[in-house]
Amino acid sequence: MDTETLDIRQVGPTFAAELRGLDTANGLSARDAAALVGALDRFGVVVLPKQSLTPPQQIALCESLGPLENSDDGSPSFKELRRNLQFKDPRLSEISNLAQGEGILDKEDVRRLFLVANQLWHSDSTFRPIRARYTSLTAVKVPASGGDTEFADAASAYDALSADDKADIEGLVGIHSPTHVMDVMGATGPDGGGFVSTLTPQRRPIVEVHAGSGRKVLNVPSHCSHIEGMSIPEGRALLTYLREQATLPAFRYRHKWSPGDFVIWDNRSTLHRACRFQERKEARQLVRSVVQDVH
Ligand code: OGA
Ligand code: MN
Repeated sequence: MDTETLDIRQVGPTFAAELRGLDTANGLSARDAAALVGALDRFGVVVLPKQSLTPPQQIALCESLGPLENSDDGSPSFKELRRNLQFKDPRLSEISNLAQGEGILDKEDVRRLFLVANQLWHSDSTFRPIRARYTSLTAVKVPASGGDTEFADAASAYDALSADDKADIEGLVGIHSPTHVMDVMGATGPDGGGFVSTLTPQRRPIVEVHAGSGRKVLNVPSHCSHIEGMSIPEGRALLTYLREQATLPAFRYRHKWSPGDFVIWDNRSTLHRACRFQERKEARQLVRSVVQDVH
């Protein structure tokens, strides 16, 4: 498809756009892949309404952008995510409160823990050796109310920091831990589910330059447990402050899902979180594939 026919419209305050006219049926042409990457560089979150992609179509589209993550890697706890999923391909995962795509998950099912963890502001897989560049979701089942996904613009939030704050954080390195969020939620102890990971923590700059836009961005997801060379309490206080700045309402876009929506975001320039819904009563199922941050 000719890129001239693409229609892009900003939907968030400083970022996030709806894109129409992309031919998504059989993976992307080199030209359309470049157009999508350009839109992601500029807008961070790109919504393609009413695509209803099949799992193979979603995989093909994402593979046009780079190699895909196998989200089971690194932990017996992560592997537990596969239990009761409808979609089994390791290049896909599923954000759902359903067992085999049907009934609501048992209250004790370990997978519910990950759905709770998704309610904290984060950026995907920063605790893995290779972080997520893009995450994509296709909505299969959506609740009547709630269950939105909220995004925050970490580039505009950086721009809005005071000169003193910018000077204070330049050069700082955050430690991203595979267990920190679970620890905060009390899920690493025996009473909380005993979450374990074989992954080791990752060092990542607090301020990064986005390769596609050249803009500076704040990298302060909830998985960042502390700051190198700073006392743990001091680092955590600073991280809490920075995460608040990065997620101020002025920098947020909230996506209300309709079945068939395809949303893809750049984890290097945005944060996101899942919003609450009646998860013991209503069904929510999204198919997910992740493009790794490799060059
Ligand atoms: C994810 C995620 C949020 C949501 O898929 O990485 O955090 O709203 N999803 O389900
Ligand atoms: Mn996520």
